[in-house]
Amino acid sequence: MFGRIDHIGVAVEDIDAAMALYEGSFEMALAHRETVDSQGVEAVLLDVGEGHVELLRPLGPDTPVGKFMAKNGEGLHHVAYAVDDIDATLERIAAAGVKLIDTKPRIGIRESRVAFLHPRSTGGVLTEIVEPAGGH
Ligand code: CO
Repeated sequence: MFGRIDHIGVAVEDIDAAMALYEGSFEMALAHRETVDSQGVEAVLLDVGEGHVELLRPLGPDTPVGKFMAKNGEGLHHVAYAVDDIDATLERIAAAGVKLIDTKPRIGIRESRVAFLHPRSTGGVLTEIVEPAGGH
């Protein structure tokens, strides 16, 4: 069902400071930078082989990532798996009894379609599934 790990999401207070680590020290190539209003974040994607690291800066304290950071501070936020057909995958996951945060996909970074599963159903790991635009 899951094709591969698409990215890991990392919550950061300052994108440019985080880029100094990931792009500077770790020498990952910057792939994309975008403000995603539907998720309340400014996001940066960096390449790691076929996968990515997604740096997330909350646009405000009332956003999902803002609330996460108020509770946990900076750090690992979610893992995202790539799927070919997010609608079919969501149906199968829901049928398996997993609670969903998003019952319908929404638009994520780079025009992808994304949905989050509830961490209460996934052993505390916030899990995202993503159908990349144009199927990269
Ligand atoms: Co993500």
